[in-house]
Amino acid sequence: MINHGLQTVTYIVSGVLFILSLGNLSQQETAKKGNLFGMCGMLLAILATILGESTEGHTLLLVIMVLASLIGLLVAKKVEMTAMPQLVAILHSFVGLAAVLVGFGSYLESQSSSLTGAVHTIHLIEVYLGVFIGALTFTGSIVAWGKLQGKIKSQPLVFRGRHALNIGLVLLSLLPLKGFISADASQGLEILLFMTTLSSILGVLLVMAIGGADMPVVVSMLNSYSGWAAAAAGFMLSNDLLIITGALVGSSGAILSYIMCKAMNRSFFSVIFGGIGQSVTSSKAQEIIGEVRSITIDETCELIKNAKRIVIVPGYGMATAKAQHAICDFVKKMKDQGREVTFAIHPVAGRLPGHMNVLLAEANISYDIVHEMDEVNPHLPETDLVLVIGANDIVNPSALEDPGSPIYGMPVIEVWKAKNVIVSKRSMAQGYAGIENPLFYKDNSRMLYGDAKKTVDALVATL
Ligand code: TAP
Repeated sequence: MINHGLQTVTYIVSGVLFILSLGNLSQQETAKKGNLFGMCGMLLAILATILGESTEGHTLLLVIMVLASLIGLLVAKKVEMTAMPQLVAILHSFVGLAAVLVGFGSYLESQSSSLTGAVHTIHLIEVYLGVFIGALTFTGSIVAWGKLQGKIKSQPLVFRGRHALNIGLVLLSLLPLKGFISADASQGLEILLFMTTLSSILGVLLVMAIGGADMPVVVSMLNSYSGWAAAAAGFMLSNDLLIITGALVGSSGAILSYIMCKAMNRSFFSVIFGGIGQSVTSSKAQEIIGEVRSITIDETCELIKNAKRIVIVPGYGMATAKAQHAICDFVKKMKDQGREVTFAIHPVAGRLPGHMNVLLAEANISYDIVHEMDEVNPHLPETDLVLVIGANDIVNPSALEDPGSPIYGMPVIEVWKAKNVIVSKRSMAQGYAGIENPLFYKDNSRMLYGDAKKTVDALVATL
């Protein structure tokens, strides 16, 4: 057992480790160290909580922890890298649900406690807001999981009057707060249940209104909400570390959402308020002119042999095909032949922030040839050949050329400006945003059909 003073000191050390973790995670080179700091911080936090003098029911706690750790281990071992965003979304929903349960538990407990006056009022406000954010995060994250898992259509659910409905739901949820503070236990519980229902509906509506290409921002925004929900739970439980950790997650999630909105040229407020400012009219996408032409492995090798500068644009298909190691072999071969090969990474390529960087790092591809979209775009006109490996939305010219497109305004990698473009994918199927891609019809584009890994393996073998 440790006393309150030692527990507080341990919590402070954990908080510092979490800050160091976030700082290191922001750079690829130091990300592993960042993870280590985070794990140490969490271990200390768990130990200090279990051993704290106010903690009771150690046997039950131990049984639950062992069970939960086993489940976590199994899920982590089983989950594919491509399914990480869904896992993250569902984990956010657990944080939301935990905040709701803590809120209800804390409310019931406070009714029989000795809290009075301003302290009691503040506690009730904490409970109310914690449950509000928690319920919204819970249902919003489940919808996000459904969209990412393909269980719910990724197209945005937009209808006239939805903003008025959302604002109405926020007001209806928050207005009973005054009555809640002065209500007796059973009335208070009814008000809390009523507000939980409304905020759960709000969570569904907010995320349903966000479609296809904007989902990455929603996931990081729900990450932020889950942090605030955890911070609210920290206030309810008077747990300083939970407040610090929740605030760290909440603010870093909000910063990430902002950075991603900027990278995708989207309005931050539009996305966090369920598409406010987006038009409801579905102007038709432009008709695509041109003809799709395929290319063989041998013909591709001929083009490669004539290219001095090659840019590779990886996308979600590289992740599903697990083609990163084959690509690494391809890069080595190109270097041996004296060709310049670089990578162009779109901020939302794949299904989670940094998805492509993680996979390329796993295949030991050197960081210094992996560039951001903005660094590569100006040099594409002087590039001989672009190899698009399992990417689609992030190289779609409609984002710049077609105001009727759902991804209009999003910056993309302008691969069609290069001399030749080869797209490796299995078919003409659409990408995550569910739209046609005029790139495939351009005169300088060729489709290299097949699984990305098999295709790159075949290229390496033939070259
Ligand atoms: P997508 O637009 O989803 O396109 C991926 C393409 O890969 C598909 O068209 C598919 O075509 C192809 N593919 C799938 N399996 C393949 C395989 N085994 N071999 C070869 N090709 C394969 O991916 P993207 O260009 O990376 O764009 C990402 C999209 O996801 C954006 O719309 C983005 O907004 C969204 N999103 C991103 C995130 C984050 S944070 N990155 C999170 C959620 C959503 P075939 O079926 O024809 O092969």
